[in-house]
Amino acid sequence: MATLALKPTPEGIAAAVDLLRQGGLVAIPTETVYGLAADAANAEAVARLYEVKGRPAFNPLIAHVNGPEMAAREGEMRGAASYCAGFYWPGPLTLVVPAQQGGSTCALARAGLDTVALRHPSHSIAHDIITGLGRPLVAPSANRSGRISPVTPHDVYEELGESIDAIVDGGRCPVGVESTVVSFTGPEPALLRPGGLERDVLETFLGTPLAKPDPTASPSSPGQLARHYAPNATLRLDASGPEPGEVFVGFGAITGDYSLSENGVLKEAAANLFPLLRLMDRKHDRIAICPIPRHGLGEAINDRLKRATTREEDL
Ligand code: TXA
Ligand code: MG
Repeated sequence: MATLALKPTPEGIAAAVDLLRQGGLVAIPTETVYGLAADAANAEAVARLYEVKGRPAFNPLIAHVNGPEMAAREGEMRGAASYCAGFYWPGPLTLVVPAQQGGSTCALARAGLDTVALRHPSHSIAHDIITGLGRPLVAPSANRSGRISPVTPHDVYEELGESIDAIVDGGRCPVGVESTVVSFTGPEPALLRPGGLERDVLETFLGTPLAKPDPTASPSSPGQLARHYAPNATLRLDASGPEPGEVFVGFGAITGDYSLSENGVLKEAAANLFPLLRLMDRKHDRIAICPIPRHGLGEAINDRLKRATTREEDL
C-alpha cells in the first residue's frame, strides 16, 4: 500500500490515530525531528518498526506521552526526574526511569530493560495524536538506522519511502537535533545523549553536574552507537579550510561554500545541521567543517558531527 500523505488537520490527525490503532507505522512531526510512530503497546507494530528502520533490537525506543499522568503510568516519576518533567516538559528532554509494573510500553520497545525512556513532545500535532490514541507512542527518528535524521516530510520519504503507512505533514521541525536523554536510574542523573535542551541549563536547574553514562550499564546505546547520523560523503571536522576537492562549511565569521549559521547562532546551526548534511550528501563526496563552539547546543551539534564522521572500519 502506498504511503499516505496526511495533512495536519483534525481529519488528518484522526486518520493517523486510526492507522496507529490498527498497528500501522506513521511518521509524525515533533519539535526536534520527525519520529516514526507506533503504538507502544503493540509488540507486532514495534517489531515492524525495528525492521523498517534496520534498527538493532538491543537499542530501546522512547515512549512519547501527552503529559505527566500518562508518564507516571509508564515509569516511576520521582524526585529529580519528576522536577525536570515539571519544568522542561513538554520539550526536547527524555527521561530514563524505572519502568512501572503494568505500564503499556511493551518489553520489545524497552529492549527488554526494566527501565523506560519517556518524553512529552511540545509539538501540538504529536501531542494531539498521542491524546487521540490514549496511550504512548514509541517514535525513533524516522530515518534508516545510522543515517541522517529527518526534519521535513520529504526527508522522511527519502529515508523510508513506501515502507511505512503514512507521513503527517507538519512542515520543518524547529529544533533540528534530537532530545537530550538523561537517566535517573543510577546514583546520579547521567547525560546519555546531548540534545535540544542544553546541558548547562539542566545542570543549573538540578544544582549538580550530570554524570557520564555508566559504561557497564545496558544498553550501551543512546545514539551512543559510534556511527550514527551519517551521510555517505566523507566528513572532516575542525577544519581550518578546505583541502583540494573538499566543500567547506563555515560558522559565524568563518565563511565557506555553506554556513551552519552566518550569524554564529548555535540554535540556528542546530536547526540547519541535518538538512545541510542531507543537501551536501547529494552533491559532494568530501565535506570539511570548521570548528563549532562546544558550549550550549554546540555539544549536541559536535556529538552528531563526530558520530557522522566515524567510518564503518573504525568500529
Ligand atoms: O527527539 C527525539 O528524541 C526523537 C523524536 C522523534 O522524539 N526521537 C529519537 O529517538 O531520537 P531515537 O530512538 O532515535 O533515540 C532514542 C535514544 C536512543 O539513543 C536510545 O538508546 C535511548 O534513547 N534510550 C531509549 N530507551 C532507553 C533506556 N531504557 N535506557 C537508556 N537509553 C534509552
Ligand atoms: Mg535516531
